[in-house]
Amino acid sequence: MSSFYVTTPIYYVNDKPHIGHAYTTILGDVIAGYHRGMGEDVWFLTGTDEHGQKVQKAAAEHHMTPVEQCDSTVVRFQELWKKLGIRNDDFIRTTQERHKSVVRKILQDLYDRDLIYKAEYEGRYCVPCERFCTEKDLVDGNLCPDCHRPTNPIVESNYFFRMSRYQQWLIDYIRSHPDFILPAYRANETLGFLKKPLEDLCISRPKSRLSWGIELPFDPDYVCYVWFDALINYISAIGYGTDPERCAKYWSAAHHLIGKDILTTHTVYWPTMLKAIGLEPPKTILAHGWWLIGRDKMSKSLGNVVNPMEMADKYGVDPFRYFLLSEMTLGQDSSFSEEGFIKRYNSDLANDLGNMLNRVVKLILRGFDGRIPAPGSLLEKEDKELLAAASDAADVMEHAVRNLHLDKGIECVMDVVRKANRYMESTAPWTLAKEGKTERLATVLYCAAETLRVVAQLLLPVMPEKMTVLLKTIGAPTEFSFEQAKNHGVLNPGTAIQDINALFPRIQLEEPEKPAQEPKKKTEKVRAAREEPVLPEGVITIADFAKVELKTAKIVQAEKIPDAEKLLKLQVSLGAETRQIVSGIARFYTPEELIGKTIVLVANLKPAKIRGVDSFGMLLAAKDGENLRLVTVDVPDFPGGASVG
Ligand code: MSP
Repeated sequence: MSSFYVTTPIYYVNDKPHIGHAYTTILGDVIAGYHRGMGEDVWFLTGTDEHGQKVQKAAAEHHMTPVEQCDSTVVRFQELWKKLGIRNDDFIRTTQERHKSVVRKILQDLYDRDLIYKAEYEGRYCVPCERFCTEKDLVDGNLCPDCHRPTNPIVESNYFFRMSRYQQWLIDYIRSHPDFILPAYRANETLGFLKKPLEDLCISRPKSRLSWGIELPFDPDYVCYVWFDALINYISAIGYGTDPERCAKYWSAAHHLIGKDILTTHTVYWPTMLKAIGLEPPKTILAHGWWLIGRDKMSKSLGNVVNPMEMADKYGVDPFRYFLLSEMTLGQDSSFSEEGFIKRYNSDLANDLGNMLNRVVKLILRGFDGRIPAPGSLLEKEDKELLAAASDAADVMEHAVRNLHLDKGIECVMDVVRKANRYMESTAPWTLAKEGKTERLATVLYCAAETLRVVAQLLLPVMPEKMTVLLKTIGAPTEFSFEQAKNHGVLNPGTAIQDINALFPRIQLEEPEKPAQEPKKKTEKVRAAREEPVLPEGVITIADFAKVELKTAKIVQAEKIPDAEKLLKLQVSLGAETRQIVSGIARFYTPEELIGKTIVLVANLKPAKIRGVDSFGMLLAAKDGENLRLVTVDVPDFPGGASVG
């Protein structure tokens, strides 16, 4: 039996979980669900990252010991996973002895082989990111390249892992393994990072500065750097050093799911660590984008953090799982809003899928005494087309699962649902019933019910509860199987179906309350008029102009958008952040010639969906009739993220 091992990042226990955490864990759960359904020996791991500065700081703020901080926060993650129906096979905590002993063992082994050495470090340090920054990494002379906050000078003796030794090996490995880092533009990003000389990695922190960590086995004055400790969870959990057989079985089929912000640690630190201990890199590291609120990051200070527990309580677990997976195009950022959730729920689940089910159930109850009708011997073209579309969707979904591109599979299944609704309109079974054309009616309803069966089976790992109800309603088998989903004729004529009220009751969008219009006081108007000089038409003040945030942005990826001749989808790097924008420049530039250009971006434009694709900004271009050229910076390699003004 082939094995399949999928992991989420282990989450810091400095704060409660948010939708970013929920997304990766649901993604892992659903991928694991499909692979279980394919008969593979699946292991799905999640857990918590409990050492380091962030946790120590949170503990101090809450007047707790670090252990109390970990114990009280870890349950919030575990409760959430239970609520969201997550079926993880293991939950690792880095404070567990089974993990710490493996970390110590690896540290000692590398130290004994002179792959870890002690040296004095003089440079700059970013406290929030817990990272040492070299002069050439610094932004504007002093700012951390990751978070853009000021760094502090530091002189310290520390232990270093000889990461630099593996630079060329890693470059060659990435180049020769196109599936190692996904999406492909994240592999390019890593190769870009590897263009600069790779430094050795500082893997210790003196206890005088940070005590909450795993003590180095060869020097009790130091603890292990939290990332060096955390990454090892992926192998300590499957028995590295204790159960070689089990470890080898799962490690040969390992897939890491991560957010784009932790790319370098996973695609540079981790493979070189593995190389040093004689293990192959994982099969795939898949980096997804970020959930944004509008175009902002979620943050406590902005007060916009979305609590997944509340969303699941309010709207149900399965719709929430469905929304997160279908809304985010893998790899790219997505903008979250409750309104967006309700819109997608109402259109995809309540209208398309729920209505289809209702129609079919009611017609079978009425016309065939609540039993699946036997189809006539002759299928018409439209019947065959619908059934073919359903089994094609099973192929697409299987391919999407193997390529870790679930959103594409889900989209294809939902297209089948829409097709099925159109089929109902064109075959009009209600008219067939009235006209007494029972044989044709039986065929239509059988094909419609079979299509629903395939759809529900294909979406079973995404919405296990709701799809089980759907399958039971139409008397279909409730286990997941691609083979069954690809076949027709699985429903047995004569099987009793059940009545159902709405599987996905429509959600009413609350109208935002209109603020009562207060009449403007006359005196205010007068004052305003006196203070604001009257400008000639078309002239703006410097304050008006300052509202527009212009930034340089480096194009790192460009691709065509299917069925949209004029549009290109670009990934642009603004230094610390990579964004997606959609631009109507496809007639003037090929995707290839855009890569590497530094353009100018209107960075604070309200996000928009263009042909269903999220766009987080607008590039500047000069247009002269049919001639269009981008506004670019006049030297190559000018960094992204610089302000323009
Ligand atoms: N502890 C490290 C991971 C160690 S793995 C060996 C860590 N933890 S974290 O809790 O800060 O973040 C965990 C994951 O959540 C990361 O993959 C991160 O990208 C993801 N997200 C955090 N905010 C997010 C969004 N707003 N949207 C999507 N995912 C985001 O990093």
